[in-house]
Amino acid sequence: MTAAVLAAALLPAAAPAGAAEPLRRGIEAERSALPGRVLARPGTSSGAVVRVRLDRGPVAWPIPLAAGPRLALRAGGCTGRIGVRVDGGPRRTARTRRAQRRIVLALPVRAGRRVVVLERRGDSCATVDVDRLDLDLDAVRITLGAALRPEQLDRPGVADAFRREYRFAMTENALKMRTTQPFPGLFLFDAADRLRGLARSVGGGLHGHTLLMHDQLPAWLDDRIQGWTRPLLLEALRQHVAALVGRYRGTARTWDVVTEAIRPDGSDWPSIWRRAIGPDVVEHAFRFAREADPGARLLYSDNAIENPGAHRDGVLRMLRRLVRAGAPIDGVALQGHLKPEIELTPAQLDDTMTRIEALGLRVQFSEVDVPLGLPVTAAWRLYGARAFGMVADACWQHASCDALGVWGVTDATSWWGPEREALPLDAAGRPKDAMRRLRLGVRGRLVAEDPVPPSAGAPLGSVVPAAGRF
Ligand code: XIL
Repeated sequence: MTAAVLAAALLPAAAPAGAAEPLRRGIEAERSALPGRVLARPGTSSGAVVRVRLDRGPVAWPIPLAAGPRLALRAGGCTGRIGVRVDGGPRRTARTRRAQRRIVLALPVRAGRRVVVLERRGDSCATVDVDRLDLDLDAVRITLGAALRPEQLDRPGVADAFRREYRFAMTENALKMRTTQPFPGLFLFDAADRLRGLARSVGGGLHGHTLLMHDQLPAWLDDRIQGWTRPLLLEALRQHVAALVGRYRGTARTWDVVTEAIRPDGSDWPSIWRRAIGPDVVEHAFRFAREADPGARLLYSDNAIENPGAHRDGVLRMLRRLVRAGAPIDGVALQGHLKPEIELTPAQLDDTMTRIEALGLRVQFSEVDVPLGLPVTAAWRLYGARAFGMVADACWQHASCDALGVWGVTDATSWWGPEREALPLDAAGRPKDAMRRLRLGVRGRLVAEDPVPPSAGAPLGSVVPAAGRF
């Protein structure tokens, strides 16, 4: 039985004033019908709170912190919030409590992962099938985010499109070392500070990018200008990490601690960091980040390691070393800049994610975009949409994947330029087919199709609903 049917049998669509009673009965009944699913507890007249745990195979995944304490709902003109009390940590619980002013609860139901939202508005309660919500309940496990450059907020519609679709913000350039520390010891945070309020307003906070990279460094780090020694540069790194992570502690819940430490041929990137400090610089960066914020999720991020090859192997070797050394690394952010020439297949992506999880690390996506071939045709657009669907489905399939970030808000602001139509929202901020597949994919409702580029002459099919999975 689906949740919708179950709940409809228990609750009137619109309950009379003082509707706490039916609400309470509904919850109790759901609880007995679904032993073990609903962990707590009937509501009060001012609302109800239910703790839920999403089961996925043998593993129980708590609602991710990145999802934030509130999920905003829109349904047929009604708006509301689900207050979710999250298992696992006083910080999460405390944050959540503040959010439980209005609405009520979500009950995930095992039979097909449908969710019914019981909504209380003023004097009336209503049940809404999640399928009718203009809402990504993927936020319960998979949160969607987007990268921003603060100056883009001056463009009309960008902030609105971001708020509508995304639940965390990634700092595209604002926290890179060239931006934040243009001179030794001089820190500039104006750019990242502009993103902070927006990131908080959507609930999921910031994904900080990036603390240690070979690229986009300030000129003062050039060792042809100044001879850097290991102790000096290690201390400079510690101070940099402490300053950034410390400042955004609590808002930046996730950090790309190290980005692109390995070259495409699998060897170490010979950056100033490697030359002056040595190969253990990566481990040090993670340790410094953990010291600065014990609660943040710490990631290694890299580009074009989704498919097999020397690059991916080199990264996996480095990750294995880090894990063995006990470095405080939580996971890997696959950037997901899916250039058509890469020709990534769902099976390859699955294989890469499986290898990462086998190291005891989690995996997520942090910079997904798909620059289409020119001139952009309908076939290219379908290719792009399928590529987004493939990534979303891969995230859904892997239990540790709870965040998926795209690299820009609209096509107008993509680093590829607007003509490549690389993002799920068009230049005016309207959702494209890519957005639709992204939303379906992160809810486990797509069968991923191989996004073969049109130039390869492959037939282009249509989306197949995943009958068995939903
Ligand atoms: C890019 C930004 O999007 C551009 O605005 C900037 O000019 C260059 O850097 N992988 C990364 C990101 O880790 O830092 C890059 O961002 C995109 C590739």
